[in-house]
Amino acid sequence: MAIWSNNYHQPMTNSAFQFNQSITIDDRLLTADLKGSIAHAKMLGAQSILDKNEAATLVQELEKMLSQYQKGTLEIDYSEEDIHSFIEAELIRRLGKIGKKVHTGRSRNDQVAIALKIYTLEEILELKKLILKVIKALCEKAQEHLHTVMPAYTHLQRAQAVTYGHYLMAYVEMMRRDVGRLLDLEKRIQEGMPLGSGALATSTFPLDREYMADELGFTSPSLNSIDGVSDRDYSIEMLGVLSTIVMHLSRYAEETILWTSQEFQFIQLADSYSTGSSIMPQKKNADVHELIRGKTGRVYGDLMNVMIIMKGLPLAYNKDMQEEKEALFDAIDTVKLILSLIPGALEASKINQDRMYQAANEGFLNATDCADYLTSKGLPFREAYQITGNILAYCHEQEKTLETLNLAEYQKYSDLFTSDIYEVIDLTNCVYRRRVMGGPAPERVQEHIDCVTKWLNQL
Ligand code: ARG
Repeated sequence: MAIWSNNYHQPMTNSAFQFNQSITIDDRLLTADLKGSIAHAKMLGAQSILDKNEAATLVQELEKMLSQYQKGTLEIDYSEEDIHSFIEAELIRRLGKIGKKVHTGRSRNDQVAIALKIYTLEEILELKKLILKVIKALCEKAQEHLHTVMPAYTHLQRAQAVTYGHYLMAYVEMMRRDVGRLLDLEKRIQEGMPLGSGALATSTFPLDREYMADELGFTSPSLNSIDGVSDRDYSIEMLGVLSTIVMHLSRYAEETILWTSQEFQFIQLADSYSTGSSIMPQKKNADVHELIRGKTGRVYGDLMNVMIIMKGLPLAYNKDMQEEKEALFDAIDTVKLILSLIPGALEASKINQDRMYQAANEGFLNATDCADYLTSKGLPFREAYQITGNILAYCHEQEKTLETLNLAEYQKYSDLFTSDIYEVIDLTNCVYRRRVMGGPAPERVQEHIDCVTKWLNQL
């Protein structure tokens, strides 16, 4: 049953109605709409726009609907156009004439805008919790691997030695910035409470928008009613943050996929987070991580979708904006799902420390240390670099490593070499001697973990 009739035309045909409806998508805004409606009804009473008792009745019934929904006893009528129309129709069904007053001084345009903002704020909290769990899991694993030497890469070529702990903490920093981005967005959303914008030009009723902002935990009402109902920046920003989160996770997933391959063998995935092949019995596939990588495309698609919907859209509200919700919800669901899988998968994976060390030990990862050694003995770095390059060429020729060259061979290249070179090029020392802030030395990584732990505790 539609609550407003089109007085001039026939009712919509079924196919047009189905095309036009959004209740199958926006039913998840039910609690957010109820909260917005409650604030609106309270304000109508407080401002004596409605009789105080009537306003109280509206508030009471809306609160009842909220608790019924939470108990699972509120049945949504999917023949309504959207969740906002359903809530008003349900109120009218329950309260009759009084129910018909809830929409005083309000439009579905500002009703949708406030519901979507409330929903987005709630999802920001959920996402934050999930990211913090991932950060904790990363820190715990890093703590176990402060001394696990592994190669780090540039251009996917073995570059320098670090520890697995140091590597994991790189992801912690990415995800801490993600939390920061969510908090920035939260603040910006809270600064613009749109209810009271009406259809686009507010109302002739003396609506108290500050009151509603307070009720809903916003810091202030939005300052322009046209913008209030036509702004979807927050959806785009949310999709931007989600895209960045999932971009980080896709890099993590990609490395996991590489590292579990026969070629790397750094990590062994738990059976509980991988699949077998239907034909090749020897295989264990990183399906979960491949899907994390794959679903990243879908989240970017959601962002593009909304950017394109909003492009060139005239002010104020246009029905195009209804489409934006599906993309936003899809991205939120996808990223939450991915985030919830990571701590378990990380915890259950086995690290092949010997293989990591061995890989770091092949490929002259201590070459920079050899050059630095000469530099610290007074040679300009560029010359030290050149000499080390010549030594490496000799090693290749002789099938030797920096560790297996004897001192006489070193001294053919520079008389600055003495027997302490062996200590300097020792792989573990290469890591331990990088004690600069932010570096891989275990005490620096430990400080980083401690700093993040403190940050987690004060959030
Ligand atoms: N379902 C619509 C949406 O989500 C509700 C807004 C309707 N407003 C309007 N003027 N038709 O965008």
